[in-house]
Amino acid sequence: MATRTQRNVALLPRPRELAPGPRRLLARTANRTVGRCSERLRRAVERLPPFGLAIRFEVEGSPNATPLIDDCYDYRLAVGEVVAIRASTEWGALTALATLAQLGAGGELDVAEVRDGPRYPWRGLMIDTVRHFISLDTLKRTLDVMAFFKLNVLHLHLTDDQGFRFRSESYPELASDDAYSAQDLRALVAYAADRAIRVVPELDVPGHATSWLVAHPEWGADGGAVVAPSTRFGVHAACLDTVDAEVLRAVDTLLGEFAQVFPDAFVHFGGDEVGRDCRAFHRHVFATLKRLGKRAIGWDECLDAQLPAETVIQAWRGIAARDAAIHAGHDCVVSSPYYLDLLYPADVHYAFDPVDATATTERALADHPGLAHVREGFEWMRAFAKFPELPPRAEGRVLGGEACLWAELVDDGLLDTRVWSRMPVIAERLWSAGEADVEDVYERMAATRGALADFGVLPEDRAVIDAYPDLVPLLEMLEPVKWYRRLLGSAEFKRRVSGLGGDDEPRPYDATTPLDRIVDRIAPESLASRRAQAHLAAGAPMDPWLAGWRGQRAALERHPDLLRELGDASDALVQLANVVAGESNADPAALAGPFGEYLLPVADAVARHRSKSSGSNPSASTDPRAALAAWPATTGGIESIHAGHINDSYLVDERFVLQRLNRSVFRNPEALMRNLAKALRHEGGKFLLAPIPTADGANFATDVNGEVWRLFAHLRSRSFEKLPTELLTTAGQAFGGFLATFADFADELEPVIEGFHDLEHYLARLDAARGGRDGPLMRDIDAIRSEFQPGKATRVIHGDCKVNNLLFHPTRNAVLAVIDLDTLMLGDPAWDFGDLVRSAFAGSEETETAAPFSPARFEPLCQGFFSAFGKIEDVARYAAAPAYMSFMLAARFLTDHLENDVYFKVTRHGDNLARAGSQLDLAKRFLAAEADMAAIIEACSMRPDDSRRPSGAGFPP
Ligand code: ACM
Repeated sequence: MATRTQRNVALLPRPRELAPGPRRLLARTANRTVGRCSERLRRAVERLPPFGLAIRFEVEGSPNATPLIDDCYDYRLAVGEVVAIRASTEWGALTALATLAQLGAGGELDVAEVRDGPRYPWRGLMIDTVRHFISLDTLKRTLDVMAFFKLNVLHLHLTDDQGFRFRSESYPELASDDAYSAQDLRALVAYAADRAIRVVPELDVPGHATSWLVAHPEWGADGGAVVAPSTRFGVHAACLDTVDAEVLRAVDTLLGEFAQVFPDAFVHFGGDEVGRDCRAFHRHVFATLKRLGKRAIGWDECLDAQLPAETVIQAWRGIAARDAAIHAGHDCVVSSPYYLDLLYPADVHYAFDPVDATATTERALADHPGLAHVREGFEWMRAFAKFPELPPRAEGRVLGGEACLWAELVDDGLLDTRVWSRMPVIAERLWSAGEADVEDVYERMAATRGALADFGVLPEDRAVIDAYPDLVPLLEMLEPVKWYRRLLGSAEFKRRVSGLGGDDEPRPYDATTPLDRIVDRIAPESLASRRAQAHLAAGAPMDPWLAGWRGQRAALERHPDLLRELGDASDALVQLANVVAGESNADPAALAGPFGEYLLPVADAVARHRSKSSGSNPSASTDPRAALAAWPATTGGIESIHAGHINDSYLVDERFVLQRLNRSVFRNPEALMRNLAKALRHEGGKFLLAPIPTADGANFATDVNGEVWRLFAHLRSRSFEKLPTELLTTAGQAFGGFLATFADFADELEPVIEGFHDLEHYLARLDAARGGRDGPLMRDIDAIRSEFQPGKATRVIHGDCKVNNLLFHPTRNAVLAVIDLDTLMLGDPAWDFGDLVRSAFAGSEETETAAPFSPARFEPLCQGFFSAFGKIEDVARYAAAPAYMSFMLAARFLTDHLENDVYFKVTRHGDNLARAGSQLDLAKRFLAAEADMAAIIEACSMRPDDSRRPSGAGFPP
């Protein structure tokens, strides 16, 4: 465990052990080496800032030209008259110098000894040099800073659809205008080795190969058509012909050239995002690399049973990719949590240790307030990451991690800020063991900023702040939108996450778009927002912030070219100032954006601060314990039993059921409870379960936030999602009897839900929610909507005749009560019948599998229902009702999916889409069975038999 000194020595990554020592001021003179050391170490000492230190090395092993993966990077550094560095390799000694550079950065040294070594051997950074060309100077500067943070692998992504950055001797025609020669790359490898860094090249095959086909269309899997150079982003269809002998020869030759240029033991062969079976091709590449003395590494798409176990997998499609790889016996480099191009704040990356991170760590991202606007993207991504069932082998090893910087929205001038704004915390994750202390790592990152400037790396938002000094109070609070939302654009983002299918929407960027807007240049993470948040939390005066937040609006007027882009965020920041000043009641969370490509994360911070400090904790609204105070007989032993999509239910003291009525469903839950009180006084009250009165004699309680709660006795009873066949008749009787008894009750009821069970109403809402969007489910709905006639409200209905709203006797075939009378209102009883039939075949709405229609289940249900309900004239209406109700529910689920699941609860976005699909499926089956159902209904309702009507026996008195 690391020891921290008083002044919190700003080492990043945190070392294994550190002992403080007496303070010593450093001289601004050259350092010198004492005793023997290698040329490489002497050069490294010359690169150190002028500390005036005498440094002695004791390095055990003999130097090799470049590092190997399992080389030791451990070191000991002792500060006395001479700084003594001991290590078993040059790499360890170089790493000790990186520590020394950090320790001395403040011009003084107060450390006696450091003993240190890495947690993982692979501490990488991948740079995409294709989407934008990255100059050698920038790559060298990147290597300087990588060494400073003890990173040791630079992975160069050299070929892709938009370009080919390797100037091959055998195939010079492949190279883009901007490309690296073998000589450039050899020099880069030597430069890296001087900093204890390996360079791993990537030839991305067989997909991502449009650039190859521009020169060699005959190498394409789709046979020879002329291929234009691409500047477009996104997955391309172009793919090499994976069985063509000439293509295989070219790939082998290029890998051979790589092997000549890059001494590292690993060569990356890509393998990502290809829509074809590449098994044989991957095996071929693996064999070629083996012949060349190299170990193959590929992206996780290449995982399959044929892949030799020695292949290293780079996991990018979630933690599941890591687990699939190691269970299948592959060593693994973890990248999915470290995608720098997704513009996440540092704390998001810091939450993931390559080994310890789990699917739960990953799911928690959905709760990060700054990522709320892309939450659906995570769900989409999960669905996109499918791994084959692979035979288990002895588990592979997690070699470490590698951050990735895909460069669609990064050019040479932006790379520094896009990497070093977050990369230091990832470096710590890959180097240091032990607990993560987020605040502490942010502090240490801030402390390294001066040293970064010495490397020529500007603080991330410097350029934009220099350009618009009067806009600083606005610009420093902004962040770019996260995940792939900038790259995809809003339209394509929405199309993808809606799950509706359809064609790709145009994207806002391609490789020729200038990256010189504010959104390109602001930092991915607003550190000013963190400072404002800290001031709020500490109760510090906010006036200086508020003055800036208000003043920036007028300043923006002086930049008319920026008004369109920044106006909304600017307005929101003014409103936020008013909220913080107590002059506005606006919901601060609603001021966080996105506003186009911008976010205002400080608004989330204000929202969190308010919910923490305000007396009325908003979570009190869902705190059942507070609500229970209205019923003094309860002691408050609470267990959540059902987070239903309408109401939340809790088991209290094992004797009661407490329910909260959801106000987003019932505009007027108080009216609903008045309806229930009247129904209980009605003859039909015998079917119902009465709420337990509060201490004040009311049938419900209202909490401090106006939420309505009710309490029932918990009956020892059975409730079914899928009703057993032998209870179908009884269930039909219970609902039929209920409806017959309450038929005349209409005049006394207050309406509680708008447009209730009115198909036209729900379809109009769906059409509004879909906007211009289209998709298979949408087309299905359009194709059959004309089959349904609007219903008319004629008399009182239950409105929710699902089988799981019946409580059955624990042992006998009898119904104890009809529950959930939330929707007792005026309607068409055929709807109730339709809902009953629908639920008897599909279970509750959450159950996604619908049983096929069968007369053997329909007939007993009908017999029970009509024996109690009586004869009907309009048989066709009743026969049409199961399809009507299923179709209506499909429309409602789809609407709610499009409106972000605010009505029907889901555990993950996409559930309502799946429910919509299964209800639509059910609607079609019922439509097809309409004639059969009509015949059965006809027969049942012709034989009214009052003797079979429930007498009330079996219901609670
Ligand atoms: C990748 O991000 N396509 C590996």
